Amino acid sequence: MAKLTIDGKEIEVPDGTSLFDACREARGEALPHFCYHPDLSIAGVCRLCQVEVEGMPKLTIACNTTVRDEMVVHTRSERVTKSAQQILEMHLINHPVDCPICDQAGECGLQDQYMQYGLYDSEVEIDDKVNKAKAEVIGPQVILDKERCVLCSRCVRFCDEVTGTSELGIFNRGNRAEIGTAPGVELDNNYSLNTVDICPVGALTSRDFRFQKRVWMLKAANSVCPGCATGCNVRIDHEAGRIYRLKPRYNPEVNGRWMCDKGRMEYKAVHADNRLNEPRFKGETGRWADLKTELSSRIEGGVGLVVSSAHQSLEEMFLLKSLAAGGAVCGGLAGSDMSEGDDLLLNADRTPNRKGLALLGLGEMDGAALAAAVKNASGTVLINGGNPATDSDVAKALQAHGKVIYLGTHDNETAAVADMVLPGAAWAEKAGIFVNKDGRLQAFSQSVARQGSGREDWRILSELGGDEALTSLKLVREAVASALELSAGLSAETNLNKLPARGLALEGVTAGGDD
Ligand code: SF4
Ligand code: SF4
Ligand code: FES
Repeated sequence: MAKLTIDGKEIEVPDGTSLFDACREARGEALPHFCYHPDLSIAGVCRLCQVEVEGMPKLTIACNTTVRDEMVVHTRSERVTKSAQQILEMHLINHPVDCPICDQAGECGLQDQYMQYGLYDSEVEIDDKVNKAKAEVIGPQVILDKERCVLCSRCVRFCDEVTGTSELGIFNRGNRAEIGTAPGVELDNNYSLNTVDICPVGALTSRDFRFQKRVWMLKAANSVCPGCATGCNVRIDHEAGRIYRLKPRYNPEVNGRWMCDKGRMEYKAVHADNRLNEPRFKGETGRWADLKTELSSRIEGGVGLVVSSAHQSLEEMFLLKSLAAGGAVCGGLAGSDMSEGDDLLLNADRTPNRKGLALLGLGEMDGAALAAAVKNASGTVLINGGNPATDSDVAKALQAHGKVIYLGTHDNETAAVADMVLPGAAWAEKAGIFVNKDGRLQAFSQSVARQGSGREDWRILSELGGDEALTSLKLVREAVASALELSAGLSAETNLNKLPARGLALEGVTAGGDD
């Protein structure tokens, strides 16, 4: 361990700790910085994190310095503050200061550092600045404004060290130096939008989010990405019932600080034109008030088959299964929503909860087996989520069966052949639990209001089952916990209503959803 004094405060940190991290611990906040990033190599190029170390003649950058025992460090001395101010001014010499039209305004490192450390009047006239390319499309997701770049090289290091794709580089020298791609190369990898997140200024912006919303108007809600079996932790940025973007949320057990570009677009399905907004009985728009009457004729022969989906929450799978009574159960169409994965985060299984199906013993069926199960079902077929009718045999069997209830979110092939269609809630419109590919239970919460007259699936399923005991999601979770305690070895103390922020890893979960 090394003992050192930072701004008069004595602290002890493990040998090998960077002075940057030690200063963060002592100050309770990070030193000003652009180039340092905890998950990238040290570049030491922005010089903003300079501190004064007693016994050293010059200021030193903290990110590239390792602590030594007995070090005495000053981070707020006049010399340090003056230096930070001068370095900021240098970074701003050629900056266009076009904050009013910059998407990064409100969450910009340059704005923040200037307000905290800068506060000088620039001596450089706008007309004297070096002009560079603006709004250059450098890939399918990202736009580059070269004038705003502070050459911190975070984006370059991300492509070199995280994705290994090396699309970006720094070209030219002096005040002509700029970020760019080599001729014929695009910033086109599964994780390109992470460069936008880590760019401390508005040099890299998202083509999807560009000019959509001023960031200070957005509200944030924590969630879990439904895009694949990895279950990256995300933040949903929304306003007035509309989701504008997804950002990765730090979870070292799952996704670290990253997420894939595909996952970022998952919010679009919530606002898709083909969302189911009203109940439909025999093809006609209906009312929830008539549900009981409509149900009585359809469900009198009992439920012959329930079909879940790996897109549903654990609670919904559990409730649906309990509705089967003596009927057959199915987890959905086997092999549906499988695609290509990669070695970083994106999983080939593009569903968030296939492991949940396995935990609850809801086995999937291939098209022929599911079509046969539909034919053999003597009572109603109840489908929650997914789209099993993409298989033509299943579609034909459902059509012929007649008594089919589909509780889903989007108008699709299955809704088209269902006799009764009930609009459920999309992932961002409800709370639930997904079990990721490694058997980690992760809770997500509602961030936006439901569309149309859609309802939470667990409420509809409880109503369909007439189960008066399960009147809240809390009670449903308690019932799920009891079931899992018996079948999956969940500890009796586990409270599914209070899962840890980083999720709960189930031991020994092996069935389904592997890489
Ligand atoms: S584009 Fe952004 S992340 Fe890349 S070097 Fe410039 S400022 Fe840094
Ligand atoms: S890797 Fe999977 S879970 Fe993570 S962001 Fe991408 S789609 Fe979502
Ligand atoms: S953060 Fe230390 S030199 Fe940039």
